[in-house]
Amino acid sequence: MKDLRNADRFLSHLESLFSVTFEDARAIIGHFHQEMRYGLAGEESSLKMLPSFVGRPQGTEKGQFLALDLGGTNFRVLAVALDGKGHAAIVAVCKVAIPQELMQGACDGLFDFIADSIQAFFREHRLSQQQAYALAFTFSFPVEQSSIASGKLIEWTKGFTASGVEGRDVVALLSEALKRRELGFIRVAALANDTVGTLVAGSYAEPSCDMGVILGTGTNACYPEKAARIRKRPELEACGEMIVNTEWGNFDKLKTNVYDRLLDGASRNAGRQRLEKMVSGMYLGEIARRVIVEMTGQGLLFEGKGQAAFAGEYALTAEHLSMLSGGSDIFAGLGLADVSAADGQAIREIGRIVSTRSARIAGAAIAAVVTWMDAHLEAGHTVAIDGSLFEKYPGYQDAMRLLLQDLFGNRAARIKLELVRDGSGIGSAIIGAVAASSRC
Ligand code: BGC
Repeated sequence: MKDLRNADRFLSHLESLFSVTFEDARAIIGHFHQEMRYGLAGEESSLKMLPSFVGRPQGTEKGQFLALDLGGTNFRVLAVALDGKGHAAIVAVCKVAIPQELMQGACDGLFDFIADSIQAFFREHRLSQQQAYALAFTFSFPVEQSSIASGKLIEWTKGFTASGVEGRDVVALLSEALKRRELGFIRVAALANDTVGTLVAGSYAEPSCDMGVILGTGTNACYPEKAARIRKRPELEACGEMIVNTEWGNFDKLKTNVYDRLLDGASRNAGRQRLEKMVSGMYLGEIARRVIVEMTGQGLLFEGKGQAAFAGEYALTAEHLSMLSGGSDIFAGLGLADVSAADGQAIREIGRIVSTRSARIAGAAIAAVVTWMDAHLEAGHTVAIDGSLFEKYPGYQDAMRLLLQDLFGNRAARIKLELVRDGSGIGSAIIGAVAASSRC
């Protein structure tokens, strides 16, 4: 018989281990500002602060563009039409799951697969192969760009490890693969991070939009920075304003607990992406799974009997937690029969604790970037956000807003958190258009 009182005690201890208090949030903001300053100056920092070579769009960009979106388990080819009045629509799309062996295989295999998918897209949509096309490439990993259409992958994140890509120009790798597949008539005209796509898509429609955030498999944010403040790249000053990709997933001035440390130690990129490992969808289920295993070991769940369903790393996903929190029964799908109501409730509670911390850290990080731009919140700010955590996880948005209210009181209303679906596809097409008229 399970000791309910002890399970409750465990969970309330867990809640304190995962808490993000008002003071913690203030500390996150302070450290963020410091790391942003160092990152922009080219000094050592957990925030890479990468120039994107793109500014915000005018909303008047027009035409049809090809876009490629690589960043998670799926990869997409899209044709996007811009009407020049702030409206963008996807005209055609093809979505392909990237096989695990390609994510973790050799460079050419991955890029040839991408080129093959573009070829299939051309065939399926009967696009002429007799004309030139400009393609915008959303590549959602940290990239040191040297122009709008070139940049080297700094390091893989989110479980990708394909060899021979780190340190190399991903536009060159893509262009070579396109040539190998006789698609040389496609020119890669722009390279962009998904956060940049999201900000650009948000501000194409809404000029007050000045931040792009992804809260999905991975997490990250970007914002428009005065080029003169990008001190590590003085040559960019003439650009006036440029969107900077913070790569906040790597921020590491956070209070961690034993579960975070174990997860990090067992990951493919130990010591890196520490914020991402506490916030993003790729990791929330794994944190919760580790807690479940611990509780089971202490005899506080499943009458102390280890469950095969929770034995494997990453067996529990953020989607499971999200469904559980929305009232669905996930246990049958995990192969677990007869989970008691109390155990089900305890696991739901673990999910709530883990996801609330994620939302509060994300809220504090947004507060940090917004106050970096506008210290006293004198203006309104629209934050364009994409990703399944923000879009679908029950209670997630409320927890973020609550944190902002804690921090700013009534002025929190000046920060609008807005879902911008598919920014990484639509946005990169807009970037393709912006690139055509860019000063940088
Ligand atoms: C990558 C970022 C990306 C984010 C969201 C992170 O793992 O480092 O470049 O924007 O995921 O996709």
